[in-house]
Amino acid sequence: MSLKITVIGTGYLGATHAAAMAELGFEVLGLDVVPEKIAMLERGETPMYEPGLDELLRRHVAGFEGSSGRLRFTTDWAEVGAFGDVHFVCVNTPQKHGEYACDMSYVDSAIASLAPHLTGPALVVGKSTVPVGSAERLAAYLAENAPAGADAELAWNPEFLREGFAVQDTLHPDRLVVGVRSERAEKLLREVYATPVGEGTPFVVTDFPTAELVKTSANSFLATKISFINAMAEVCEAAGGDVAKLAEAIGYDDRIGRKFLRAGIGFGGGCLPKDIRAFMARAGELGADQALTFLREIDSINMRRRGQMVEMAREALGGGSFLGKRVAVLGATFKPDSDDVRDSPALNVAGQIQLQGGQVTVYDPKGMDNARRLFPTLGYAVSAEECVRGADVVLHLTEWREFRELDAAALGEVAAEKVILDGRNALDPEIWRRAGWTYRAMGRPTA
Ligand code: UDX
Repeated sequence: MSLKITVIGTGYLGATHAAAMAELGFEVLGLDVVPEKIAMLERGETPMYEPGLDELLRRHVAGFEGSSGRLRFTTDWAEVGAFGDVHFVCVNTPQKHGEYACDMSYVDSAIASLAPHLTGPALVVGKSTVPVGSAERLAAYLAENAPAGADAELAWNPEFLREGFAVQDTLHPDRLVVGVRSERAEKLLREVYATPVGEGTPFVVTDFPTAELVKTSANSFLATKISFINAMAEVCEAAGGDVAKLAEAIGYDDRIGRKFLRAGIGFGGGCLPKDIRAFMARAGELGADQALTFLREIDSINMRRRGQMVEMAREALGGGSFLGKRVAVLGATFKPDSDDVRDSPALNVAGQIQLQGGQVTVYDPKGMDNARRLFPTLGYAVSAEECVRGADVVLHLTEWREFRELDAAALGEVAAEKVILDGRNALDPEIWRRAGWTYRAMGRPTA
């Protein structure tokens, strides 16, 4: 008989994981403590914009015509406990307010709510990004508090999905990492992931701390790569070099690779910034803080680029104050193909300029509602053209495809000044210059 799976927490990670598990053929029950979220999912709608996820949900959520009916949702812990052979914990671990450390309260409370309902053999699989050592602690808690005792086992299976590619990354991951303590746990997880493993996905079996560390070290490496190229951008700006050419040239070396070398206003989002900070905090607790002091520099380089963008804008406006200047900001989300504005470099730059007296208008293809909630005092436009109308300078801060396809000549007709600053090194300078614009990008010569 096929395994029954539950997914606890139906946010970004959980909603995608639940739909993907149903796609792989399992009966799935998703739980969330927020009834509105469950009601939305039952209607086949996701609480966030993620390409392909609504379609995947509707293929499986019970109640849709033609759906497999394999995916259901609930708010009832007893139902979850009774239903599942394998329980995936997918709740979020945000940064603690005013601290570097990550907030484990959602994970802890999920395990505490589930434990009393584990009366028979069950595998609880953590997917959230947690400080190393958490799995060990939670396994001990389960053994003590679940009626099934040692039969309620824990495993750790970090998730590497990227926003914008969540469905693809979950169904066709580039690797699977499982931290386990028994053959039974490994066997169950091999059964869950039989399809991707059968398609050639590497399956790496580790102990608990290694599985937890794989996730935080992977994100630290990615953050380091971005800050490395942004540090080179700073040197290029000082020396008159071109960081885009530099990235292309070093990227041809296979050992370096071309990905994650796009210089600009840096990384944001709900993962990289908070993960490197939580990693530093945890290393400090373990007495290994020296090993990660470089991450403090990675964070500083990243934050500095946002300030540099503000300075570029000031310079483009003549070098004085922003007072009375109209600044158009194209992009609000932390990356394209997402409506996520958490720690968005684009909104941070927009906010800094507004604080300094600039009249800022923002446009984003999908992030407007979230941006408005977070930065209610910024101006918002319904299209790129309306955003640019009357602007003294245009800032391109999130590299949506829509912005690459803009008609530079037509926008030139509505802008007050034809000056565009590319904070993502993603527009084609030739197109904009040919249309009469002054185009400048971070880490590149002026023309
Ligand atoms: C990241 C990891 O990639 C993923 O594996 C992990 O599971 C979660 O965290 P995500 O937050 O979706 O995923 O975004 P990612 O694509 O990594 O981009 C992060 C930030 O880096 C974005 O703000 C992006 O604009 C920026 N970035 C990325 C750059 O500035 N330059 C680059 O070359 C690449």
